[in-house]
Amino acid sequence: MGINFMTLTRHIYEGERKIPGATGELSALLHELSLAAKVISLEVNKAGLVDILGFTGDNNVHGEKVKKLDMYSHDMLFRAMDHGGHLCAMASEEEEDIIHIPDHHKRGKYVLLFDPLDGSSNIDANVSIGTIFSIYKRITPDDGSPGRMEDCLQPGIKQVAAGYVVYGSSTIFVYTAGDGVYGFTLDPAFGEFLLSHNNIRIPEQASIYSINEGNYKYWKPGLKKYIKYIQDAYDRGRKPYSTRYIGSMVADIHRNLLYGGIFIYPADRRNPNGKLRLMYECNPMAFIIEQAGGRAIDGSKRIMEIQPTDLHQRVPIYIGSKNAVDKVEEYLQKDENS
Ligand code: AHG
Ligand code: MN
Ligand code: MN
Repeated sequence: MGINFMTLTRHIYEGERKIPGATGELSALLHELSLAAKVISLEVNKAGLVDILGFTGDNNVHGEKVKKLDMYSHDMLFRAMDHGGHLCAMASEEEEDIIHIPDHHKRGKYVLLFDPLDGSSNIDANVSIGTIFSIYKRITPDDGSPGRMEDCLQPGIKQVAAGYVVYGSSTIFVYTAGDGVYGFTLDPAFGEFLLSHNNIRIPEQASIYSINEGNYKYWKPGLKKYIKYIQDAYDRGRKPYSTRYIGSMVADIHRNLLYGGIFIYPADRRNPNGKLRLMYECNPMAFIIEQAGGRAIDGSKRIMEIQPTDLHQRVPIYIGSKNAVDKVEEYLQKDENS
């Protein structure tokens, strides 16, 4: 009966209050991120109405075409996050270098990394897209000085919080602060994110696989054999997994998180490190999926244990339901050893 008053902001503050010595700064950061998400959500919803579609004509640091909404989202995140006094630096998929906090704002003890708009090639077709973020504590002294590269280049296991926002048939904000995974749906009339997915657990058994099968020819033999294995499930008296591939990592992983599945962006003969970015995409998604009971590996190692060397480095990723990741790992290892 009535409204569910567990808003995202309340949930975050109540969660932080349980931690002895917590200052409330992380809560404030997550709250500010949710404001940016609301603004981006509004703009994404208007995308077909205003003259915002199409390319800016520029390339981002990865040499890919940037759409206007990518830059809009990047700017909104920066503007929502630069003045809170909790961050000492930021980094974004859309900017080559570390982003400094302007001198006239206070600097704090956290670092924020983000992919402002994920799946942007889908915008024109009204397909789900997202925002991904990752938060670390700085390792250089918290003395008001600018954050440095080493503050950003920490392995994923050092994340203190991570999350994503899916702009789909509704807007959903999913986050973890290391104590489970929670999802909040934006009520457009109320203007608030309300708890809709409490303590999300990914089914141990997958029923979906998500991979760009167009690249089959370039895959390594172990991966080809694994995909063949799941497609041959009928031979073992089981229903084969369904293929579902949107081409927006956030949306693909969100669906697999709820239904059980594996998402793969592998290394292949053309791209030895795969396509997806360790700092903006793979680490935050790995933190979420592990917190929900799943796994995320690069083929042999846990994604979150990789020591980063570059803000924009790419890494192959196998992520999702535990049983499926265990199985693909077995196939990849057999291949390495043969
Ligand atoms: P972005 O829009 O941030 O550049 O990311 C796109 C990514 C990711 O969302 C998706 O999983 C992947 O690109 C799809 O790549 P393919 O088109 O090669 O399958
Ligand atoms: Mn992306
Ligand atoms: Mn992006």
